[in-house]
Amino acid sequence: MKALVLAGGKGTRLKPLTTTMPKQLLPVANKPILFYVLEQIKEAGIKVIGIIVSPETNPFIKEAVENGSRCGVRITYILQPEPLGLAHAVKIAQDFLGGSPFLMFLGDNLIQGGVKPFVEEFNRYHPEALILLKEVPDPRLFGVAEVDPSGKVIRLVEKPEEPKSNLALVGAYLFTSEVHHAITQIKPSRRGELEITDAIQKLLDMGKNVRSYILTGWWLDTGKKDDLLEANRVVLDEYLKRDIQGEVDSQSQVVGRVEIRQGAKVEQSLIRGPASIAEKCQIKKSFVGPFTSIGAGSMIENSAIEHSVFLENCYIFNIERLADSIVGRDTRVVKQEQDFKAVRLFVSNDAKIELP
Ligand code: DAU
Repeated sequence: MKALVLAGGKGTRLKPLTTTMPKQLLPVANKPILFYVLEQIKEAGIKVIGIIVSPETNPFIKEAVENGSRCGVRITYILQPEPLGLAHAVKIAQDFLGGSPFLMFLGDNLIQGGVKPFVEEFNRYHPEALILLKEVPDPRLFGVAEVDPSGKVIRLVEKPEEPKSNLALVGAYLFTSEVHHAITQIKPSRRGELEITDAIQKLLDMGKNVRSYILTGWWLDTGKKDDLLEANRVVLDEYLKRDIQGEVDSQSQVVGRVEIRQGAKVEQSLIRGPASIAEKCQIKKSFVGPFTSIGAGSMIENSAIEHSVFLENCYIFNIERLADSIVGRDTRVVKQEQDFKAVRLFVSNDAKIELP
């Protein structure tokens, strides 16, 4: 079995962060989302992986993942010149996929427990397609499936205005090569994309066996700011272990599950986990609260921060309370005078913010 990871697209819903980096490389608990995806694919026993990249994401993804040998997988890059849809991505990957069954995984999705049980289910029943579904409160934002009590899929609709069920299509799919035939028979949707949902519906219309697998754990689609914060919260909460490799002075306190990576320094500060502080950060006279990830080389001074994600080389100075924020690389947030209002930010790389 092969895998196809989708890391193309333009990431418009996460602008401005995605103007200078692909959304699939945004960090969750100080690790790019795409790396979780690749690890989960490998864990399911698949080592031959194609990654769909767009002209925008191509250089960044290649620099981060290279040929995959560091993660023990073999990567082939496939350039999709325009984001013409998930089924279009499969179409242009046909040479790479050949006649092999494959796992398609969206590069911005995080799935609790990975995809190993999902792949095992596919190998047990040999359907033409196996889709992963999850009950969600607002299915209108996703592809939606109707299934019968035995788990057989009856109908699929992409982002319906009036959903017939609350079962959303999670961003992982398993196919046999039959899907290529179905894709040749679909037309672009109203949003101008070749939808994978329509291709699966076409398999159903062709009388093929399409089964579903209900995910009981969490699923995070990191397409928007709040999703990314939520993903950071959940992953820190669930996976982070206490690991102090950096220096912590005697006037500091580190409480709970906190990761302080090599070369980081904590002085006269309180760190309350779960929190991740990456390499070469400096935390001085500050409070770092729960559910915070601080990217490598950042400096936090005389500030209190919590429930936030900072990318590399941020400088935060004199901020009494910074919460619920995502701060891009090389950003300065500096406050000159005292003020007790919370500051909430969603700013891009290289921004400089000075508050009165
Ligand atoms: O997240 C699950 C949802 O993903 C499903 O419920 C929907 O049925 C499915 O259509 C898809 O919806 P989105 O609108 O959220 O997909 P998005 O445009 O965000 O693309 C998902 C990933 O695929 C993202 O990493 C970018 C990449 N992509 C997207 C398109 C349209 C490509 O690589 N090429 C493309 O042409």
